[in-house]
Amino acid sequence: MNKKLYSPEELDFNAFNKIGKEWMLISAYSENAHPDKKYNTMTASWGGVGVLWNKNVFFCFVRPQRFTKKFIDDSDTVTLSFFGEEYKPALTKCGRTSGKDTDKIAEAGLTAVIQDGSVFFEQAKLTVVGKKLFAQYMDENSFIDKSLIGTCYPDKDYHMVYVCEIKEIYGE
Ligand SMILES: Cc1cc2nc3c(=O)[nH]c(=O)nc-3n(C[C@H](O)[C@H](O)[C@H](O)COP(=O)(O)O)c2cc1C
Repeated sequence: MNKKLYSPEELDFNAFNKIGKEWMLISAYSENAHPDKKYNTMTASWGGVGVLWNKNVFFCFVRPQRFTKKFIDDSDTVTLSFFGEEYKPALTKCGRTSGKDTDKIAEAGLTAVIQDGSVFFEQAKLTVVGKKLFAQYMDENSFIDKSLIGTCYPDKDYHMVYVCEIKEIYGE
């Protein structure tokens, strides 16, 4: 597992590449979300980092049907994990199958480590630990460009928006 702790100011992080092109895993641990499983993860390519409420934050978007959402909602923390390009197939797997049905983490060749109630991966190059500050479903009425509803939400499964304060950053 990565050991070195960075401050957000030290990070060389281009969200357009790291999130949009290389993708990330959103993960959470919970004792109560499921009788057998204690954590889950899912691939995401939408999200960002920035500053809000005088805090360094990341934000991510999770549709209601994601199994991972149960764990996020029952956890105080969420992690974002970033990997080298050799793990793109693993991220593809975690973005196409649900932890509800399979042990996709093992099938993807990833090893999860739980530390202080947060999910880390041995193979990750960078892990950002966030404390949940805000969660709200996107409201259909708030879309100014209504064409987004047709293109991104034909099933009206509007994302939950999570804003998390960045608490720790582990890298190589
Ligand atoms: C490249 C890629 C990006 C994705 N981005 C998101 C996202 O930002 N938000 C989301 O809710 N689902 C996203 N998904 C879909 C989830 O990763 C996918 O539905 C996953 O199987 C959910 O797993 P779970 O049911 O175990 O939580 C993405 C999938 C891929 C392949």
